[in-house]
Amino acid sequence: RQKVIFDTDPGLDDAVALLFLLGASDRLDLLGVTCVAGNVGVGATSRNARIVCEWAGRPDVPVYAGAAAPLCASVATAEEVHGEGGMAGAPMHTPAMPLQPLHAAQFIVDTVREQAPGSVTLCAVGPLTNLALALSLAPDIAPRIGRIVVMGGAYFEGGNITPSAEFNFYADPHAAARVLHAGVPVTVLPLDATHKACTAASRVARVAALPNVCGPLAARLMTSFERHDVQKYGQDGAPLHDPCAVAWLLAPALFGGREVNVEIETASALTRGHSSVDWWHSTGRAPNATWITEVDADAMFALMAAAIGRLP
Ligand code: BDR
Ligand code: CA
Repeated sequence: RQKVIFDTDPGLDDAVALLFLLGASDRLDLLGVTCVAGNVGVGATSRNARIVCEWAGRPDVPVYAGAAAPLCASVATAEEVHGEGGMAGAPMHTPAMPLQPLHAAQFIVDTVREQAPGSVTLCAVGPLTNLALALSLAPDIAPRIGRIVVMGGAYFEGGNITPSAEFNFYADPHAAARVLHAGVPVTVLPLDATHKACTAASRVARVAALPNVCGPLAARLMTSFERHDVQKYGQDGAPLHDPCAVAWLLAPALFGGREVNVEIETASALTRGHSSVDWWHSTGRAPNATWITEVDADAMFALMAAAIGRLP
């Protein structure tokens, strides 16, 4: 099984992604969930991650809280999309499972050092602050990381938090730049791909009809997530961003992209967090990421429904 650390800021689509990941435990060995401030504060994201693990009957998964703020940019949140507590519309409870005492970045460092070189994949679907901190605490871990799979950035599609930038890269542009320059193989699932993986009534209905507890819960998260985006984009359904990263881990053949050089804007207030993608290889700069632009969305939603269907 592929060893994965999941870095996240739940977040409605993050919560769906975590259910997807937990449902794929026959293929993915989830070593821990590291939480970061993003959609909402890190107190809420680390509580929400534990609630999701408990829904899935997995209180054994260690959950860590990490960065409470970006490296040096001002704090940006997305409560208007995800609700005050980060999981609007979901049945909330106080999790019984504990939050681990270690800082998320230290957990990443320790785990990558302990595991065989190249065996750990970091899958990050929030601002990249925890990953950047881990790489700064212990640069020796970079060559030991198998791959970093990131949901973030936008190029062809334009931004979603500003005209220039996608939320995760905007929220911590310096961290995104740090990760892209770490010398680790990176796969990026930007809006260019995730906007082709929209929830649609039939896709949500399929998950809602699962004969377990987690299926209807995942459908509720997706329906709540749609509130904002259906109005914003004027289409049936919302781009289900973060589950795309989990789907890529399980079935990269469902996606298409290109090896490119990607640089992140950190200096300009106007274009903060913009991902400048050298799609036509016009700069001569060496590629540092695989930039995904295509997804077989029907196959991805089928894969996700099957995985969530394996949960309680
Ligand atoms: C990203 O921003 C967050 O609001 C979502 O959870 C996703 O990770 C999409 O831009
Ligand atoms: Ca997220």
